[in-house]
Amino acid sequence: MSKFWSPLVKKLTPYVPGEQPKMANLVKLNTNENPFGPSPKVVEAITAELNDNLRLYPDPEGEALKSTIARYYNVQSEQVFLGNGSDEVLAHIFYGLFQHGQPILYPDITYSFYPVYCSLYNIEGKTLPLTESFEINPEDYRQPNGGVIFPNPNAPTGRYLALDKVEAIVAANPDRVVVVDEAYVDFGGESAIKLVGKYPNLLVSQTLSKARSLAGLRVGFAVGSAELIEALNRVKNSFNSYPLDRLALAGAIAAFEDEDWFRATCEGVIGERDWVTAKLEALGFEVLPSKANFIFARHPDHAGEVLAKGLREQGVIVRHFNKPRISEFLRITTGTADQNKRLIECLKALV
Ligand SMILES: Cc1ncc(COP(=O)(O)O)c(C=O)c1O
Repeated sequence: MSKFWSPLVKKLTPYVPGEQPKMANLVKLNTNENPFGPSPKVVEAITAELNDNLRLYPDPEGEALKSTIARYYNVQSEQVFLGNGSDEVLAHIFYGLFQHGQPILYPDITYSFYPVYCSLYNIEGKTLPLTESFEINPEDYRQPNGGVIFPNPNAPTGRYLALDKVEAIVAANPDRVVVVDEAYVDFGGESAIKLVGKYPNLLVSQTLSKARSLAGLRVGFAVGSAELIEALNRVKNSFNSYPLDRLALAGAIAAFEDEDWFRATCEGVIGERDWVTAKLEALGFEVLPSKANFIFARHPDHAGEVLAKGLREQGVIVRHFNKPRISEFLRITTGTADQNKRLIECLKALV
């Protein structure tokens, strides 16, 4: 604390990102990165951008990437917003599209950045408890609010809400923006992007960090009605006009163009996730049904904290949240086949 800090900064409790340890030989299953690398065509495209043009600013609007994404999802370019990772997109949404002065609704167990954005912008967040089985109940979202946001699949539970239920929440809030954070949707879910033409209050955010293996490049985007996107552009151009650099723009376009790589790696992750789930269940774990690239699991006889520590001592890092309702769970990112085998071997030694 310093006398130089603004009153707002004194009150902030910042988000704590998952650890990025520097240890050798580590099995890193703690931040939901993709275990497979990005498409070789992405690497080629980025390499081709390493030239004299780096002295020039990138396209502030990222038009080429916007039209690539628009074509991919069958929407107009004006319906696409780009940001430096979806975290930045979400920050602009909280600032520019939620009605400050009324509570923003989100689940009690969800992406822990949402309350941080609320405190950053001094807006009220209201948490709505997930059901006993950690599901979102659309009925809960019929109450006065300044906006609604939830991930689908949810994080850290991995639970997926069927599209008709997502639609019920959007339809119940015609005067408020409903944001579906689809960071993990490509691992088995169905995107709500197909509903944006029908609902001007629906905004879908996605990222290239997960299914497209580009967490290091920092590219996120949102798709919605042109009026919602215009608000985000107004915020962006009052904050940082060039959120995506030349390398990120080139790499992201190439990622969308290599559909075969995308499909194959998503299928690889899904297959490994299901393998880990079966092995954990055989060890007595309860595993929530996941449509993400991670699973959320607890053991009836072993505390989550103890298991996380035991794994760490064997060089396997998973995420444990010391929070009400979920302190017994481990969130385990799906790794490569070798990493997953090592995870299971280490857990066998612990349970
Ligand atoms: C639910 C959810 N939304 C958004 C993000 C942010 O992703 P990025 O900023 O890498 O695009 C994450 C990252 O883990 C996430 O779990």
